Amino acid sequence: MNVTYDFSGRVVIVTGAARGVGRAMVRQFVDAGAKVIAADRDAEGLSGTVDGMSDDVVRTVTADVSTPDGAKSIVQSAFDAFGRLDVCVNNAAVAPHASLFEETVEVWDTVYGVNCRGTFLMTQAAGIALRDQGEGGRIINFSSGVSNRGSAGAAAYASSRAATESFTRVAAIELAVHDILVTCVSPGLIDTQPKPLPPSMKEGLAKRIPTLPLARAGEPEEVGNLVMWLASDASSYAVGHVYAVDGAAGIGTRAGHEIVDEDVRYDWVTGRKRN
Ligand SMILES: NC(=O)c1ccc[n+]([C@@H]2O[C@H](COP(=O)([O-])OP(=O)(O)OC[C@H]3O[C@@H](n4cnc5c(N)ncnc54)[C@H](O)[C@@H]3O)[C@@H](O)[C@H]2O)c1
Repeated sequence: MNVTYDFSGRVVIVTGAARGVGRAMVRQFVDAGAKVIAADRDAEGLSGTVDGMSDDVVRTVTADVSTPDGAKSIVQSAFDAFGRLDVCVNNAAVAPHASLFEETVEVWDTVYGVNCRGTFLMTQAAGIALRDQGEGGRIINFSSGVSNRGSAGAAAYASSRAATESFTRVAAIELAVHDILVTCVSPGLIDTQPKPLPPSMKEGLAKRIPTLPLARAGEPEEVGNLVMWLASDASSYAVGHVYAVDGAAGIGTRAGHEIVDEDVRYDWVTGRKRN
């Protein structure tokens, strides 16, 4: 069954729109009739995202979500370009990895600055604008499956993403009174890595992908599909929670072997007879 969305008349902000999941979501929302503000700190990447699209439906904003001025300018641009705001997707993030012994304060602070402060500043700026507009709206934050596991090298990234989940719950409660529904999306492994893959990433993914329940990485559009649902009228009672889109990676590993019960303790339960 094909599902299509109609976002005509709606204005959507997507941050982190210069590549990866953000770039895919810009295309998906434009294809669904929305007017889109594609925001990122990477101007060149943004040009690639909107290549071939009309100014009437998409505008780019080069700004840094981790600064108050950057966040405000992204939100203001929705009103300047299209006269309103309906949905703000806070997808921009950074995920450098380092061992605990090598992690630096500067990198740690930048990760938190983009992933936590950026999400806060964007939610605050979009929340104020949506409240003043008075018609409700949606704010969709991003986390990661790694926020729930110990993953070597991910101290700053994983903990910063866990913070966005907690932040989302608070924002959801505060903004629900204005009919602004705040949610969080938690992707698993999504195929956005640089191509060609650097050698260590290639080796790591070759080991990891076969262990995933679906034995494949997700496509950016599969994350976008969940975001579009959360941005749509179809999700009007889905508020404040973290929604995983991870091919079940957060709950287990691939079932590849025959299921054999050799535990004689339960033969009385199963009625199994052994020779
Ligand atoms: N790709 C995955 O496997 C994966 C897994 C779990 C969670 N996620 C989450 O999904 C989201 C998208 O991931 P992705 O793989 O597409 O990321 P990506 O690194 O490919 O792209 C992130 C984008 O954010 C932009 N950005 C970074 N800092 C910014 C700032 N300060 N201001 C404005 N823009 C900034 C970058 O320029 C880039 O275009 C992120 O929130 C990430 O945490 C991704």
